[in-house]
Amino acid sequence: MQSTSLPTSWNIDQILDDLNTSGFALVNDAYPKEYIIDLVQECSLHLEEFRAAGIQNGVVSHIRSDHILWIDHQLPIAQQHIKTLQSLSQTLNQAFYLGIKEVEAHFACYNAGEFYALHRDNPQLKNDRMISTVFYLHEHWQEDWGGQLRLQDKNGEWHIIQPTPNRLAIFQSDILHEVLLSKQQRLSITAWLRSGNSIWNN
Ligand code: OGA
Ligand code: MN
Repeated sequence: MQSTSLPTSWNIDQILDDLNTSGFALVNDAYPKEYIIDLVQECSLHLEEFRAAGIQNGVVSHIRSDHILWIDHQLPIAQQHIKTLQSLSQTLNQAFYLGIKEVEAHFACYNAGEFYALHRDNPQLKNDRMISTVFYLHEHWQEDWGGQLRLQDKNGEWHIIQPTPNRLAIFQSDILHEVLLSKQQRLSITAWLRSGNSIWNN
């Protein structure tokens, strides 16, 4: 897996410690301001291409109402985030022997009134998602706009995480979480660090 190094501002020991004790970790002010400006611009330029995440192969699910765009080589700015997550994967593999081999990611846009109900990204370890990450890239956020990430840590405690701009949330893919109804446009990149070892291959 190709990678660059992690941003020097990230407190790796803290991330590893939080993941180990709670199953989730937060990185605030993850990237330089210039990067966010470029990323928001790239995301905004492609908003027309986003598709309803709740519709797959014509089947409609009501668990989520956001819109997504998978990230490929045509989105070079977002690719830089994926490179950083590849680097993070190597660090996590060394610390926890997770065997992560690949990173897949999509932009997500929640317009006013949209949400993602309670779910796990890897229920009953049925797929190969080991770690989920969500990076919040909108330029402003107010607490009363909703859109919080609510998650249950691995000790059973619930946490409400604000989608603060430039924050990266990292959590085990098997834990329960949801996105509360958002009252404003909420932009993010969700990425999964995957082992490539799915028994079911889904
Ligand atoms: C997801 C998800 C959480 C968030 O995309 O699977 O749970 O805060 N996202 O956007
Ligand atoms: Mn999820």
